[in-house]
Amino acid sequence: MSNRKWTLILIPVFLLFVWLLFQFTLSSLQIHQLAEQLKTVSPTGGGSDTKVVLISQELDNYYWRSIEQGARKAAEQHDMKLDYIGPDRINPSEQVKLLDKAIASKADAILVQGINDPEYRRLINKAAGLGIPVITIDTDEPGSRRLAYVGTDNEGAGKQMGELLAKASGERGDIGVMISSERVENQRLRLAGFRSVISRYPNLHIVEIRSSNISRLQAAQQAQNMLTQYPQIRYMVGFSALDGLGILEASERRGAQNLKIFAFDDMAETLEAIKDRKIELTIVQQPMEMGAKAIKLLNDYLKGNDPQKLTYTRVHEVHADPPDNMTGNDRQ
Ligand code: BGC
Repeated sequence: MSNRKWTLILIPVFLLFVWLLFQFTLSSLQIHQLAEQLKTVSPTGGGSDTKVVLISQELDNYYWRSIEQGARKAAEQHDMKLDYIGPDRINPSEQVKLLDKAIASKADAILVQGINDPEYRRLINKAAGLGIPVITIDTDEPGSRRLAYVGTDNEGAGKQMGELLAKASGERGDIGVMISSERVENQRLRLAGFRSVISRYPNLHIVEIRSSNISRLQAAQQAQNMLTQYPQIRYMVGFSALDGLGILEASERRGAQNLKIFAFDDMAETLEAIKDRKIELTIVQQPMEMGAKAIKLLNDYLKGNDPQKLTYTRVHEVHADPPDNMTGNDRQ
């Protein structure tokens, strides 16, 4: 065959080869891109399309906003999307509805406060059945199929408060207690722990327990009623974040000179009142850490690691008059 004929045959073969090579490179690139996308959207592996819903006890409560802050920061780190929702005012049946909605909206994971309610447990179990992990935060929902609990050991914190009050009172005196509500499980547990310690001291008496519904206004009103009805009360304990400040308001209104107040949590005003020696002490929980830890745990779970069922976040005390045996950290 002549050279010219060879050239005529080889040119199309060469062009075909180049075209095939081009197609091969193109599809390899497309497969690679697809694989990268899959890595970020897979709901079981975490990632930017993992939608976490956090349902609070009350939307604009400072304590829940702190949980949100911790959770949001951690969610950003793990490339997750966080939706923060909750009732405008404390309302357990609204929490049930919001959980139902979160499941219907196909959230990839849900963080909730336990409310000790059978319908709520049924919904948590439903979510678990659908493969949506639910983590309880601040208050547990035992008996449900929640994945894990992250928060304070509430009974332990109640006992701690009992010991602190026994010491500060010289183990005698009448006590008034403010809880958010008997129906709120963490309050029931804190109260049970507190009672178990106080009952060991024959001269310490809990004379009255009232509810604030996590409202500072209601705490002030109820504390005032308590002080009117039982003027012999020398010690008042507030078991949720705004109770201590409500009690302080009532005590100032009534000019109750000898009343010692024991609070929970670290709102700026509570810490200010401790500095001014208007509140004796506070037991401080770690809401931000709760939010962050819950997200971290979720991320580990989505990556295939089974979490431990109970993660207790620490509490610390802030005292107006720190006891001698306290470390620098505890004093603040
Ligand atoms: C409790 C929360 C509550 C908050 C209300 C905290 O002490 O742990 O359950 O929502 O107080 O202010």
